[in-house]
Amino acid sequence: MPVNIGDKPQADFSQPIELMMDCHRRIERFLLALEKIGRTGALDVQHRAALRTALDYFKLAGPRHNEDEEASLFPALAASGDIAATEAVTRMRQLAEEHAEAEKLHHRIDELGEAWLKSGKMIDEDQEEFRRTVESLIRIYTPHIAMEEQDIFPLAARLLRRETLIGIGEQMRSRRAANPGREGSQCSRRRRPGL
Ligand SMILES: [Fe+2]
Ligand SMILES: [Fe+2]
Repeated sequence: MPVNIGDKPQADFSQPIELMMDCHRRIERFLLALEKIGRTGALDVQHRAALRTALDYFKLAGPRHNEDEEASLFPALAASGDIAATEAVTRMRQLAEEHAEAEKLHHRIDELGEAWLKSGKMIDEDQEEFRRTVESLIRIYTPHIAMEEQDIFPLAARLLRRETLIGIGEQMRSRRAANPGREGSQCSRRRRPGL
């Protein structure tokens, strides 16, 4: 994988929180791509490729990121025993509910997007629904990511022991080893120009 001069060093599985933040940057980037694609009336070659990449990302890497949080980070934080972590349990529950809510919207985007790719066209009502659904996703993700990055992740970085963080990183590695997906879709890889 090429490394560009000026890139910050790539996070690896020993830095699970940094990896999760890399995932957020990808989520934001692919949401913007979907928003842009939704505004176009026709799918040219470039939009078609961008739509394919975004749909693939949210089909595989998106749920895996949620699992990293729901099955690894949140339980580890809740189990830390610290009063601040106990108080954060309600907020982590809310974040998990938002994952489920976003998942339903991603499912609809997937249906509409796959049909669009297949036929090359989309009726006005479907395009309008595509746009509205992307907007709804952005409305969920913006405060969601802010809460994770400004509240939950700093708390985890402060409270979790180094070996716990290493364990979370290993769980993340196993998830990706079980199903690597397409190259470039992983949070542990830096974005290549043009992807
Ligand atoms: Fe999340
Ligand atoms: Fe997240």
